[in-house]
Amino acid sequence: MTKKIEEQIYLVTGGAGFIGSNFIRYMINNYSHIHIINLDKMTYAADQENLCDVKKNGRYQFIQGDICNRALIDTVFNEYDIAGVFHFAAESHVDNSIEDPGEFFQTNVIGTYQVIDAARKKWMSSPFVIKPKYSNCRFLHVSTDEVFGTLGDEGLFKENSPYSPNSPYSASKAGADFVVRSYHSTFGLNVVTTNCSNNYGPYQHDEKLIPTIIRKAINGEKIPIYGDGKNIRDWLFVEDHCKAIDLVFNKSVAGETYNIGGFCELTNIEIAYKICDIMDKLMPRGTLLGSHRDLITYVTDRPGHDKRYAIDSSKIMRELGWKPQENIEDGLMRTIRWYLSKYKAKNEVGVI
Ligand SMILES: NC(=O)c1ccc[n+]([C@@H]2O[C@H](COP(=O)([O-])OP(=O)(O)OC[C@H]3O[C@@H](n4cnc5c(N)ncnc54)[C@H](O)[C@@H]3O)[C@@H](O)[C@H]2O)c1
Repeated sequence: MTKKIEEQIYLVTGGAGFIGSNFIRYMINNYSHIHIINLDKMTYAADQENLCDVKKNGRYQFIQGDICNRALIDTVFNEYDIAGVFHFAAESHVDNSIEDPGEFFQTNVIGTYQVIDAARKKWMSSPFVIKPKYSNCRFLHVSTDEVFGTLGDEGLFKENSPYSPNSPYSASKAGADFVVRSYHSTFGLNVVTTNCSNNYGPYQHDEKLIPTIIRKAINGEKIPIYGDGKNIRDWLFVEDHCKAIDLVFNKSVAGETYNIGGFCELTNIEIAYKICDIMDKLMPRGTLLGSHRDLITYVTDRPGHDKRYAIDSSKIMRELGWKPQENIEDGLMRTIRWYLSKYKAKNEVGVI
């Protein structure tokens, strides 16, 4: 006789954003025993449409709320027997953190503290004493490679690279990482942290680099590229990030941190060229207008713009057997096709 797996309730914060919505879809589709509560403030970066295919699923529930609202977080932990937290909620756009840093420190640092402290109080009776019922409960914190600062031409960020954040966004994420670390060292809370490189894929907010290039290319508008376009990022398809988070949550040792990257270092201009070349095939502009590459325009660089990020993912590959499955060409093709259908459905793009 097969043993019935007990239902587990997981709290996902920030699940109506880009990576969180992809993650919820991945978990609901891959595990039949899990129930997900998505707590999201619904900032400008969120979109309920990101979850339109899962919102009628009986194993999915949405709560609109702020992670800084401690009374609400305590209520969620008291009403539901939360078996794990996947903490995605954050202010995530570097440009906005330069314009208005306050909300970044509020949400990313204080908000992280409020959620992890509520988990500690619910799951633990005193430091290093976990209530028996909650012995397997775990808090997974989703962070970024930007906490490590910038690299020169050589080298890769490893898990033990020194923290050296340069923007208010990365400084606030570094602060959150330290909050999470301290809850393991001081209280023995079961935490794990992931530091991932740049994600791309469906459901990303229009303001980010790849959606901007795609949208401008579709509209035949100037494609803005910061500075000389030579800043280097390591790109990972969002589904590969979701799989890594699942593995880290289910297979790793408490207190560990994992770097996650796509082995795909590209300059911003190289990414723009790749997108333009795919757009030339999908939506040729005709001989008079030429290639989409002709739309690329260099604009004043972002202050404090990190030159290069590159990730050493060997730890998660060696210990947990993860490796990225999507290559950049196929991943970009899937992403561009998704944005084409999104804009067509919303009729937001004049040329479609
Ligand atoms: N996008 C990337 O390339 C990338 C890479 C590495 C790590 N990360 C991290 O992954 C996480 C998710 O990133 P994303 O790109 O999906 O971000 P996103 O901006 O698309 O989504 C963030 C979500 O958090 C919600 N949120 C913001 N403030 C909140 C608050 N106070 N209370 C509750 N919800 C709130 C927003 O409404 C939104 O739905 C972030 O923690 C980010 O730092 C992102």
